[in-house]
Amino acid sequence: MSFQKPLLKLLKSTLFRLLFFIITFFFSLVFLFRFTPPSTVEEYGPNDPYGPAYPNISRPVKQGDPRLQLHGSLITEPLVSPLIPQTHPSLRANAAIVILCRNSDLGQMLDTLSQFEDVFNREFGYPYVFINDVPFTPQFKNTIRQATRNLVEFGEVESESWSYPSWINQTKAEECMHKMEDDGVIYGGSLSYRHMCRFYSGFFFRHPLVRKYDWYWRVEPGVSFLCKIPYDPFVYMHQNNKEYGFVISLLEVAKTIPTLWEVTRDFAMSNGIGREQSKLLRFFVNDETGDLGDYNMCHFWSNFEIARRTLFDSPTYLSYFNHLDRAGGFFYERWGDAPIHSLALPLLGLNKSQVHFFNDIGYQHEHLTHCIDHVGQFQNTCQCGGRRNFDRDESSCLQRWVEYQEKEWTWWDPL
Ligand SMILES: *[C@@H]1O[C@H](CO)[C@@H](O)[C@H](O)[C@H]1NC(C)=O
Ligand SMILES: *[C@@H]1O[C@H](CO)[C@@H](O)[C@H](O)[C@H]1NC(C)=O
Ligand SMILES: *[C@@H]1O[C@H](CO)[C@@H](O)[C@H](O)[C@H]1NC(C)=O
Repeated sequence: MSFQKPLLKLLKSTLFRLLFFIITFFFSLVFLFRFTPPSTVEEYGPNDPYGPAYPNISRPVKQGDPRLQLHGSLITEPLVSPLIPQTHPSLRANAAIVILCRNSDLGQMLDTLSQFEDVFNREFGYPYVFINDVPFTPQFKNTIRQATRNLVEFGEVESESWSYPSWINQTKAEECMHKMEDDGVIYGGSLSYRHMCRFYSGFFFRHPLVRKYDWYWRVEPGVSFLCKIPYDPFVYMHQNNKEYGFVISLLEVAKTIPTLWEVTRDFAMSNGIGREQSKLLRFFVNDETGDLGDYNMCHFWSNFEIARRTLFDSPTYLSYFNHLDRAGGFFYERWGDAPIHSLALPLLGLNKSQVHFFNDIGYQHEHLTHCIDHVGQFQNTCQCGGRRNFDRDESSCLQRWVEYQEKEWTWWDPL
């Protein structure tokens, strides 16, 4: 009882009222400014030195805005149609999420899986196919099964898709690996990385667990999905005549593929492929070099792929893969499946409109991110967290892709 009186006195004091008023006013101001949406382009993305990647998708942007400059060229149109209509919920693709994964990747896999379920698959319910080069442990399987209500199947790679083919000189292969390691080439000394690239180049799409599906979405342990995906990308691709989808496009490390372009050209020329139909090939050709043209190293980063499975499980692709496999570059060099898949697209006769850039899928793998906070109707469904968007990096090929005008070009045409 005795301490109530002084307290009451304090509350009634003018000084206290004044202080209370000032503090309330101050916090109201902070609150007000914190939640006022940015009204101009300049206020977007304080953490992103590049600003929004596609400013005029959500808001018009003035011509000449310095943020629109990229490699000296002006983006005058949105990079992709930003408004993908919500597809009919009753439509469903015969598709699976395909994941090559080791037992030791379980922790990373769980993080990726829980994000993937949150942004997309808890709602859409596509099955998962997990593949490993050794049997999955019971612990791995149980933990994954507890993390999703969707169908999960576990399989192993078949031994011929994870070993040296008979024609490979293993002594030479090991010498090459040591040399690449000494040269500091990323994964240059790794045999298992090479097996993985070869598996993804020639085998995953005909694995018995994958073969029953028409479409696949490739996911890797450790990747992040940063935006809610409120529509079905498989159905979208089907309805819009898309065959292959990517989010990140970049330059390959040239030292990993010294002869890939030549070997690809030999294949195309000796099989008469690409003489007429290839409007996409020119995208991959270096603008500066003459004669038969060099590879400019652009490719779609294949750790994320949404594609039609039979694109690869097709006679042309399989003979391309066999040609590459015979040439030995998976082992004597360090050919990645990404440039191989990319170079195959023109060989398979695809045009630009059949390859889709998923602008609205926020994705992070290792140090590279594609994530846009404000894209059309999906505003504020992303958790980009101030990550730097790779799209405007010097080694990104996205701008080249956006600006690419389909042009007939064949291996037979000098530039
Ligand atoms: C983007 O800006 C350009 C130039 O101001 C304009 O012509 C175009 O219609 C805009 N696109 C969208 C989707 O707002
Ligand atoms: C295999 O490669 C090694 C090292 O390059 C070479 O010395 C050897 O002759 C090769 N073996 C065959 C059968 O070609
Ligand atoms: C691309 O190819 C598809 C399938 O052959 C065709 O339907 C479409 O019209 C082509 N688009 C362009 C722009 O050539």
